[in-house]
Amino acid sequence: MLVGGREYRTIWPTADGSAVEIIDQTRLPHEFVTVQLTVWEDAERAIRDMQVRGAPLIGVTAAYGLYLAARTNPAAEPFRLAADRLRSARPTAVNLMAAVDRVMARVADIDETALADEIGRVAAAMADEDVRACRAIGAHGLSLIRDAAERRGEDEPVQILTHCNAGALATVDRGTATSPIYEAHEAGIPLHVWVDETRPRGQGARLTAWELGQHGIRHTVIVDGAAGHVMQRGMVDLCITGTDRTTAGGDVCNKIGTYHVALAAADNSVPFYAAVPSTSIDWRMSDGVSEIEIEQRAREEVSRITGRTPDGRMESVDILPDESSVANFAFDVTPARLVTGLITERGVAAATRAGLEALFPEAARR
Ligand code: MRU
Repeated sequence: MLVGGREYRTIWPTADGSAVEIIDQTRLPHEFVTVQLTVWEDAERAIRDMQVRGAPLIGVTAAYGLYLAARTNPAAEPFRLAADRLRSARPTAVNLMAAVDRVMARVADIDETALADEIGRVAAAMADEDVRACRAIGAHGLSLIRDAAERRGEDEPVQILTHCNAGALATVDRGTATSPIYEAHEAGIPLHVWVDETRPRGQGARLTAWELGQHGIRHTVIVDGAAGHVMQRGMVDLCITGTDRTTAGGDVCNKIGTYHVALAAADNSVPFYAAVPSTSIDWRMSDGVSEIEIEQRAREEVSRITGRTPDGRMESVDILPDESSVANFAFDVTPARLVTGLITERGVAAATRAGLEALFPEAARR
């Protein structure tokens, strides 16, 4: 991803291998700061406090967290504890558990002395695979944007609506939902992105808007409640969101508010796509509404708002009556029937078990 015109990934090991560096996403958009994780507890905290977030990125961060654990204390018991704690740092994105399980399976028979090097290689491979998957999602999603451009007609920008941040910041690079947008922009297709602000933490307003701005892509931030309105007025050609966990039956779990976007899209005949790397598919689940654990987060994310004052200080203010109770559901599930298609690294699948298994036959055989 471009930051100030320079290419970055969102996570990388330092040159001497003693630490892992991340972009601290809690400081964006006002400050671009990178921080070094030196012990596995740093990685766990980074995931839990959302210095890193987004399903693919927290998976890769957990893998690098295990690398740090193996460097500092590879003995079986402490290493197992680190794995358990990293695995449960957040509950909803399947990438996190899948990443920890993949590393643990890979190193099951490996000697303590070789552990760190091997995990470092696995984590780096996972990061590279994520970039390749996001690039492929971009190529498949590009054809959907091209079709929309043809329907719009010459020089009229394609209007895309997205929710949360499923951008480069949510992955190792390029993003899932944003990848087709970057491809289309680079192919010279005029486009404009409606960015849902995504309360309570504002991943759309703070992260997607910043990221698109860094790439020179035209965008407009709207409050979440305006998504239905812009669709009703014919101002959206297609919606593309990310996912934290998509079931084998095609139900899409994503940031809270995604379900409303899909409902409004269906009511206005606007195609609704989720960009789904295979690392976000949970083949063991079929009914997302009853089976997926939805993370509930702290009251303060809803009751307080943080921003920059005119003199440049970051400040938080209360916006609710002290006595009001708060529910802070972080994700929701969009049923497959509302999903036009799933943009995967192998192509666009129907949001059905058959549709997904046609692209991933090895999963059907499991
Ligand atoms: O709570 P977050 O910010 O981790 O939630 C992230 C999302 O909901 C993203 O849309 C999702 O992880 C897809 S990221 C490619």
